[in-house]
Amino acid sequence: MIKKATTAFIAIATSISFLFLSSPPKSSYHNLLLSISDNTSISQHLFTLTRRPYVAGSQANAEVAAYVLSTLTSCNIRTHIASFDVLLTYPVSRSLMLTSQPPDPPISLDLQQKTYDGDPYADVANEVLPTFHGYAKSGTMSRPVVYVNYGRVEDYATLKEMGVNMSGTVALAKYGQIFRGDIVANAYDAGAVGVLIYTDRKDYGGGGGSAKWFPDDKWMPPSGVQVGSVFRGTGDPTTPGWPSSRACERLYGKCL
Ligand SMILES: *[C@@H]1O[C@H](CO)[C@@H](O)[C@H](O)[C@H]1NC(C)=O
Ligand SMILES: *[C@@H]1O[C@H](CO)[C@@H](O)[C@H](O)[C@H]1NC(C)=O
Repeated sequence: MIKKATTAFIAIATSISFLFLSSPPKSSYHNLLLSISDNTSISQHLFTLTRRPYVAGSQANAEVAAYVLSTLTSCNIRTHIASFDVLLTYPVSRSLMLTSQPPDPPISLDLQQKTYDGDPYADVANEVLPTFHGYAKSGTMSRPVVYVNYGRVEDYATLKEMGVNMSGTVALAKYGQIFRGDIVANAYDAGAVGVLIYTDRKDYGGGGGSAKWFPDDKWMPPSGVQVGSVFRGTGDPTTPGWPSSRACERLYGKCL
C-alpha cells in the first residue's frame, strides 16, 4: 500500500449550523429542513449519493461534494466547497496464501468481492477499490495463524488460559463486537505480528438460514467484505486536533 496526501472535498453548509446553535421554534430553517427532507427526496438523494463508490480523494468524491453543493444551494442554503490536504491510504496489491502441512498444496485465496444476480451495483463494480484496511501498514508476513474469535481482550484471555502463545503469530479475527482498529491493537498487544479480519456469514450473511441478501434483505452478499479504517484516532493522522488546512503544521513519521 502507499500513503498519499490527497485533497478531499467537503461541501459545507455555512448557514444551516445556525439551526442547531440557536433553534428558534418554527423558524424558516425549521420549515426549510422539513420541506427538503420528506421520505421520497431523502431516498432519491441517498440513491444518487451512493450510486458509485466515492472514496475520499477520488473524482467520484469531488462529484458527490458538487452534488451536495448544488442541492443545498438550490434550497437557498448558503454553501461552499472547502478543500483539505489529508493523509490517505489506498491499496496497490494484496495476496493471501494458506500453506498447510506437506503434502497438502498451498491454497491461494481469492480476495474478490463478486457481483451476483440482482446486484444493483454490478455496473460500477470495477470502480470499487479492492478490499483493504485504511491506514494499515504495508508488509509481507508468513507465520502460523491463530483463530482469535472477535479479537477482544477477553478472547485473548481465553487463549492464554488455553495455553496459546500469540507471540509472532498472525491473528485471524472475525468482524463484530468491537471496532476493527481495536481488533488490530489487541492483536498487537497480544504479541501477534499480523492480523487478518474476515466477514463471517454467521454475523453478516443471514446465518439464521436466510439465503437472501441486499437488496432483498439487510444481509451482505456471500462474498461481501466489510472495509474501513484501522486508525484509532479522529480525522487526519497528520493533524491530530487541528484542521488539515494547506499550510498548517503537520506530524509526519510516527503519526500512525
Ligand atoms: C417515512 O419513512 C419512515 C420509515 O420507513 C416511516 O416510519 C414514516 O411513516 C414515513 N413517513 C411518511 C410521511 O411517509
Ligand atoms: C511465547 O513465545 C515466545 C517466542 O517463541 C517466547 O519468547 C515467549 O517466552 C513465549 N511466552 C510464553 C508465555 O510461553
